[in-house]
Amino acid sequence: KIEEISLQKNMPFPMGAAINVSLLKSNANYRNLVIKEFNSVTAENAMKFASLHPSKDTYIWSDADYLVDFAVANGKRVHGHTLNWYQSLPDWVKNFQGTTAEWENLLKTHIQTVVGHFKGKVVSWDVVNEAVNEDGTMRNSIWVEKLGVDYIGRAFQYAHEADPNALLFYNDYGHEFGPTKRTAILNLVIGLKNKGIPIDGIGIQMHTRVTQTDANLTAAIATAAATGLKVHISEIDISLNPDNVQSMTYTTALGEQQAAKYKTIVQAYNAIPKSQQFGITQWNVTDADSWIPSNYKRPDWPLPFDAQYQRKAAYQGILDGV
Ligand code: XIL
Repeated sequence: KIEEISLQKNMPFPMGAAINVSLLKSNANYRNLVIKEFNSVTAENAMKFASLHPSKDTYIWSDADYLVDFAVANGKRVHGHTLNWYQSLPDWVKNFQGTTAEWENLLKTHIQTVVGHFKGKVVSWDVVNEAVNEDGTMRNSIWVEKLGVDYIGRAFQYAHEADPNALLFYNDYGHEFGPTKRTAILNLVIGLKNKGIPIDGIGIQMHTRVTQTDANLTAAIATAAATGLKVHISEIDISLNPDNVQSMTYTTALGEQQAAKYKTIVQAYNAIPKSQQFGITQWNVTDADSWIPSNYKRPDWPLPFDAQYQRKAAYQGILDGV
């Protein structure tokens, strides 16, 4: 009997998806597709600060634990996202009045409580997410304002103390925009590594578009790999409608262009050393649950599965990349 094709069986590195825990609980088609196709999962929102830690002394673990239990029961790796970000902050953090030492304690306590809770179950973490601006300067987040940019290295140290076995990633978008942002991200990461900060990998989000050039997509992956760190394509989706055309519809031609872009990205990723291939994670499961249409308020079809949970041309594009 010929074994049925799936991403997890046919691809030579882990294949993951960002999971919406409510859909995982309530929608059998969604759940079965995740079980069949992927061997790695990331929580779309359930491990973010505002979800896990809504007030100073309250942690809510239920949704994240549900995902982790699902992963354990079905043999899937769990990648943690994200310990530190300028978004998804609860009001108590936004309104926190404290000394520098109290802010440091807030950062450390959150990271160590979360990493400690999932120790041994979550194998890797996006420690810091999106700290670099498009022009290559450091983003002026609440964390930088209260603690200075060196907090980034300490965030990695705190995570490492809480679980010395966890692989720790710096995660960002825009590596494929061109050299300005990419160089700033790579300099940040190389700087951390050279200081002896425990960083294991780079997350390239790869929220990209069908009009992005192959040269930019390939350079994003090759330059990250040149650091010697592990590379995770951590949040891939490929927009077909980046210009927000409200009347757009999906066509076979657009689907083929998207398939070719997925193939380009997978080929570039397959070309980096095996030991650096942490895997490719798509952001959401199907076009029905993609964050892109709701977040950008437009029709779009960024993922390899359509809104009826069927494989698109993009699915074959991924298989063709290896
Ligand atoms: C997005 C989620 O998909 C949305 O549901 C939420 O409203 C906002 O965050 N970069 C990231 C992810 O690192 O955490 C973001 O996820 C998408 C962009």
